[in-house]
Amino acid sequence: MKEFKPIILCVDDEPQNLKLLEAVLSPRGYEVLKAQNGFLALEILKNQSVDIVLLDVMMPGMDGYEVCRKIKEDESLRHIPVIMITALTAKEERIRGIEAGAEEFLSKPFDVGEVLARINMLLRVKNLNDKLRNAYSQIDSLTGFSEKLLLSFDPIKFDFVSTIDVVVYQMLRQKDEVDKPEVILAGINENKEWIIYRFLEGKLDRIALYGLPLKIEHLKDSVRGGFFNEGQELNQDVETVSRFLSRENILVNNMVYYLSDKLSLIAINYEREVTAYDASVMHNIFLHILFMNSLSHQIKQTEDAFVYTVFALARSAEANDEDTGNHILRIGDYAEVLARELKLPQPFVEQIKIQALLHDVGKVHIHPDILRKPGKLTAEEFEEMKKHTVLGAEIIGKHPRLRMASSIALHHHEKWDGSGYPYGLKEESIPLEARIVTIVDIYDALRSQRPYKPAFDHEKAFRIITEGDGRSMPQHFDPQVLQAFKAAASKIEEIYEKNK
Ligand code: C2E
Ligand code: SIN
Ligand code: FE
Repeated sequence: MKEFKPIILCVDDEPQNLKLLEAVLSPRGYEVLKAQNGFLALEILKNQSVDIVLLDVMMPGMDGYEVCRKIKEDESLRHIPVIMITALTAKEERIRGIEAGAEEFLSKPFDVGEVLARINMLLRVKNLNDKLRNAYSQIDSLTGFSEKLLLSFDPIKFDFVSTIDVVVYQMLRQKDEVDKPEVILAGINENKEWIIYRFLEGKLDRIALYGLPLKIEHLKDSVRGGFFNEGQELNQDVETVSRFLSRENILVNNMVYYLSDKLSLIAINYEREVTAYDASVMHNIFLHILFMNSLSHQIKQTEDAFVYTVFALARSAEANDEDTGNHILRIGDYAEVLARELKLPQPFVEQIKIQALLHDVGKVHIHPDILRKPGKLTAEEFEEMKKHTVLGAEIIGKHPRLRMASSIALHHHEKWDGSGYPYGLKEESIPLEARIVTIVDIYDALRSQRPYKPAFDHEKAFRIITEGDGRSMPQHFDPQVLQAFKAAASKIEEIYEKNK
């Protein structure tokens, strides 16, 4: 940590006085800057950080009142305390000084004891003020940061480790921000992995290590944390971390940490003493990450259960059917490829992949003698067969999460030219998801062996769809979907070959 040496700017037109002040202040651990007039003083204040200004009133050019007023009018200097040095003890002098914004007054000739006492007192006040200002600016950036995290939170896509990367990147010191730590150590306990993060030459340096023996096993559903400054007694956690980091040539001066059985976050070496406030900022971020992680777990589990149930329902439809193998799975994959080829939005692509699986669920109601009939269906049997569309939509029902599935089940035998069933819908009155599934359903039926037909190879299936064979005709398909099918034909073939 930087040695904290308060910097005092002394402003006086008499070199004699400046020397005197320096002789009093330097030996007592203050760094003294000197300016012989107001202009120079303001110049210095612009270019470096100063903790207190000792300001003579009577100066040629710009008097002390004006310098003081300029300091207090400047947003970035206002917080620096000003002590005015008045030769006179006259009341009017002091009132003018107060009006100019001065914090304190000293009269010449100085009493050394008084000078030191005043400086000390103002430094303490300034220190508290600085902490308050830091607290405000941290609250500000923390609020902004939390907001960003939450707004971009996608529980399904959430990734624990990359979220930690993002958070740490925001928290770490890049240049000379005293309110940020130099090093952050993040423990991803599931992987028994410890990552040391810091900025080295403007780049984020990330080293993964294994095996920091912090005792966290018993921290189920609870957290432990706190802060530590040099000189304080080390507790077990601080000692372990210090020892661990000393092997990486990092010496711990101060530390703010939170530990749990899932995650440990340890911030090391702020350029100032750390406080309970830093700990609470860290605590807040820490809980945010844990909360998002646990929420994401729960939502992913529910999502998995949803997909699993869709599968189970889809499989139940095959019970009476000839073994259609992986037909159901393939349909989802083909539909996904076509949807992507058509440049449909990502959520649509993800949904059709799952929901297309239920397209034939209505076949559970169709008699096995029809489904397994080795020859051509009679007109009557085919009328019966056609009902699997309406029946499928009835089974799926009206839940919003299965809206696409029910639309696909109902409409996957409609044809673009209006010659399909159950309603003979035409063109764009057929929902897009159904227009997509129609074409891949037929492709897969053609590739597969059915009780009533042999399996065809890719070329033959492709030709029947794109050129027609009397039963299937190109005008049955949405021209854009047909175009996408042609463009993605090799990917479609690959899906069949991989999952037959
Ligand atoms: P599936 O066997 O899965 O066939 C789905 C769709 O693929 C059919 O819908 C049809 O459009 C197309 N398709 C299947 N095989 C051929 C083929 O050899 N040539 C051509 N051009 N297209 C073919 P469709 O016609 O509405 O039939 C719906 C379902 O009815 C079929 O599903 C199947 O389960 C049953 N089915 C249709 N025709 C017969 C048949 O002659 N005998 C038997 N046992 N079942 C049939
Ligand atoms: C299948 O092969 O099971 C799908 C038949 C259909 O589209 O009705
Ligand atoms: Fe069908």
